Amino acid sequence: MTTAARRIIEALAPHARRLDSARIADLVEADAARPHDFALRIGGLYASFARQRLDREARDALVALGEAAELPQAFRALFDGVTVNTSENRPALHVALRSALSDAAIARDAHAQAAEARVRMAELVAQLEASDVTDIVNVGIGGSDLGPRLVVDALKDFGTGRFRVHFLTNVDGSDAQHRLAKLDPAKTAAILVSKTFGTQETLLNGAVVRDWLGGSERLYAVSANVPRAEAFGVAPERVLPMWDWVGGRYSLWSAVGFSIALAVGMDGFEALLAGAADMDSHALQAPIAENLPLLHALTGVWNRNALGLATHAVLPYDERLALLPAYLQQLVMESLGKSVTPDGEAVGIDTVPVLWGGPGTNSQHSFFQALHQGTQTVPADFIGVVNPAHPHADNHAALLSNLLAQTEALANGYSAEDPQKSYPGNRPSTLFLLDRLDPRSLGALIALYEHSVYAQSVLWGINAFDQWGVELGKRIAGELMPAVQGDDVAVADPVTRALLDEIRARRAR
Ligand code: F6P
Repeated sequence: MTTAARRIIEALAPHARRLDSARIADLVEADAARPHDFALRIGGLYASFARQRLDREARDALVALGEAAELPQAFRALFDGVTVNTSENRPALHVALRSALSDAAIARDAHAQAAEARVRMAELVAQLEASDVTDIVNVGIGGSDLGPRLVVDALKDFGTGRFRVHFLTNVDGSDAQHRLAKLDPAKTAAILVSKTFGTQETLLNGAVVRDWLGGSERLYAVSANVPRAEAFGVAPERVLPMWDWVGGRYSLWSAVGFSIALAVGMDGFEALLAGAADMDSHALQAPIAENLPLLHALTGVWNRNALGLATHAVLPYDERLALLPAYLQQLVMESLGKSVTPDGEAVGIDTVPVLWGGPGTNSQHSFFQALHQGTQTVPADFIGVVNPAHPHADNHAALLSNLLAQTEALANGYSAEDPQKSYPGNRPSTLFLLDRLDPRSLGALIALYEHSVYAQSVLWGINAFDQWGVELGKRIAGELMPAVQGDDVAVADPVTRALLDEIRARRAR
């Protein structure tokens, strides 16, 4: 077992045993100051941990665990551009895209490169605004899609209205077929976003779009591999840079967010970055006991390792954040879905929870039944927005009362004579309230999750910035492609061989 795992077990096991039969409702009742003392306010963001299944002693143990794992030092290293991504021998300097909180030359240099790229991006935004282009198609996948897609959707109240922005992602040709069918190629520009410019989905969709546009005049690219983008036919003046020191799932703050800037303007984009920078300063400087991302991370480790909870739900009570769970699936599960340390040693305790979720109140009418009465306890993050951006006051009152009701019902439960109508309760949740959803608060919220993920990786002793687990399937798919296309190539696996025979037999029946 690793040092990190032993540290977690030794710190948390006594409290897990002590609180074995504790009930959230009793913890709340026994401690009048809990609603206040288990909450934090950072700018326009309020967070309550009062409905987590832990008490003050356990929270102190979590803070001590954070100190023992040297979380503050790990954040200093992240911001200073230390090689935290050891398997790829790189720093992870996404923070340098939006804040300048380090004197290290590598971090300052990254910050300067990011600022320079933003100037170029602003020029391209201005050029497009001055053209007769009406529609933008972002072609990308994973981190080159989910972040920009989330932000463009979440900030629709702040859109300049100058462009309609679309996202083409899936290698399934029906995605391209249906998405492009509604657009006029003469009035559409496409941005091919790929850090590597080697991703199968993006290259295939990029080729479809390039043909559909009838040339590369309105083709733009964002990539760390500029020669490949140019070889694809994108003119050098329309290629914006990325760098190997930014992970794809941490990249929306770079030119990967070109589509965001086109949707909300450069001012909106800068405000998004400013919100993330607020959270960066807080994460780097606040003591652990008052540090929102670190407490969120420690609570996650408590739920995973002390309570043994295997999944985690994210439940935004705001339709504009409907894509947040999908975005966080990549951020959390690609970052923390590891079972060995950078030295190759088995971690020895559970790491990543399965993250899932959906917006309220819709989700109440689908999977909430299982949250309330299912056999598995699912800890959840609820996210609400106090001030809406619409005039429908009764709708908003209903939305907020449902949000409050659900967290209360999950925690407190309800006993009825008929067991089928009883609610066990004792289901933990964290509640986030944003004063309002705007570029700045959204930037802070996303950065909060980024920092929570990094802190969890430090606690578990794993690398949050690589993703070797996605490579094997890509390689096998590449090997199988000729066979699927009908070439007579040897396929070693007997099950795959049988499946290929079946596909061939059923083709064009
Ligand atoms: O397959 C996973 C992945 O490498 C993600 O980490 C990344 O965000 C995505 O593919 C897209 O990669 P690229 O931006 O290089 O096309």
